Amino acid sequence: MKQLPIIALDFESADKVNAFLDQFNEPLFVKVGMELFYQTGPDLIKSIKDRGHSIFLDLKLHDIPNTVNKAMQGLAKLDVDLVNVHAAGGKTMMEAAIEGLRQHNKDIKIIAVTQLTSTTQEQLNNEQNIQTTIEEAVLNYARLTQQAGLDGVVCSPLEAELLTKELGEDFMKVTPGIRPQGAAQNDQKRITTPEQAKKLGSTHIVVGRPITQSDNPVESYQKIKESWLG
Ligand code: C5P
Repeated sequence: MKQLPIIALDFESADKVNAFLDQFNEPLFVKVGMELFYQTGPDLIKSIKDRGHSIFLDLKLHDIPNTVNKAMQGLAKLDVDLVNVHAAGGKTMMEAAIEGLRQHNKDIKIIAVTQLTSTTQEQLNNEQNIQTTIEEAVLNYARLTQQAGLDGVVCSPLEAELLTKELGEDFMKVTPGIRPQGAAQNDQKRITTPEQAKKLGSTHIVVGRPITQSDNPVESYQKIKESWLG
């Protein structure tokens, strides 16, 4: 798995994605989420792969085990590099996800979302009726994810330190909420710089707007890459 910063391709059309990628002449690691995939589907995935880039397909599957198993069999045929599910779907669902993936592809990494970073303590306690701190809930789901045999989790860089201590350095901690020093915070609440994320134990960072909305995306990417890779 490449350690390159993962660029979140949060664009609304294939044309915009292609115009963005045209500016780069090196292999990238990019993230395609629901917004883009639901509109452009497997065709765009194929064209990004044909350009030589690695792909994190961020579709956060969450359904009964049989359905997730079948859906993963389909995604595996796209030969992306990284996919994900919601840990809240349970251990059996996560095991079914791996089983589905492995029928077509032995190399794709699979990680789980623990608690969405948009979830507040109040929502956790009163809506989900989970009577713990967010940190404890994240650790619980991350443990379950590891027991199910997945490769890691999506989490906040601020949770990465605890997860490294409890679950080991090799367990992937893919962390959004990254902002270079002085960059706009946008709607992210708890942010760190690439250097801080690395110190806290992130294994991969996801960066969107500081690159995609930059006046000079290539230069912004290079700076983030340098500070992340050191
Ligand atoms: O533009 P920005 O750097 O904030 O983009 C971060 C990316 O990571 C977006 O695609 C966002 O949906 C995603 N993400 C996140 N927080 C999570 C999970 C995913 O910001 N907890």
